[in-house]
Amino acid sequence: MSMRRKYLALAIGICLFSGGASAQSRIDHFGFGRDATADEMARYFAIPPSGAGLPPGSGTAKAGAAIFANTCAACHGDKLQGNPAKGIGGDRLIGGRGTLASKSPVKTVESYWPYSTTLFDYIKRAMPFNAPGSLKDDDVYALVAYILSEAKIIKPNETMDAKTLPKVEMPNRDGFVPDPRPELQLYR
Ligand code: HEC
Repeated sequence: MSMRRKYLALAIGICLFSGGASAQSRIDHFGFGRDATADEMARYFAIPPSGAGLPPGSGTAKAGAAIFANTCAACHGDKLQGNPAKGIGGDRLIGGRGTLASKSPVKTVESYWPYSTTLFDYIKRAMPFNAPGSLKDDDVYALVAYILSEAKIIKPNETMDAKTLPKVEMPNRDGFVPDPRPELQLYR
């Protein structure tokens, strides 16, 4: 069972348990819970760092630029510089590389995010802020290509899809320090 399935199964297990239903004992460590069904898994969308589960489709920075101008720029700025002035809080998305350890860190997709794949995941599920879930997969790939290209992480003509996106290495890929906690052993 993958970690993802295990976490979901665990969450369902907890629901069953607190509801007082008798749950099948499938998760050895806790002695309760059950495997998630295929139906339940079909409703669950989350792309892990590896990119597993990235959907079919593709997009380029050129296509992404047009979508961004219409759908994102009002909040994130026409040059991806962010838009705090209007009070809608759209973050700056590019720039700030190398500033994280300085006195004025600038956290952006370019400077901070360790994985390119989770950018697809985040935009698909959370953006645009006022209509999350409204973008087609091709649009999301295009927006990801546009942001990565403006950040000079990929070339302007590169196509992003389920094969190419996981290969993109982010500038801050090795900037995170593992900090294992004792309770981690509970989830193995
Ligand atoms: C109505 C304003 C609004 C619109 C429109 C909008 N965003 Fe956002 N965006 C936000 C806000 C607010 C956040 C911060 C959300 C949070 O921290 O929970 C955010 C966060 C993000 C982030 C994460 C930035 C980071 O470093 O954590 C990305 C990437 C992003 N938006 C991309 C997009 C894209 C692509 C579009 C167009 C499809 C879009 N946004 C449209 C307001 C907006």
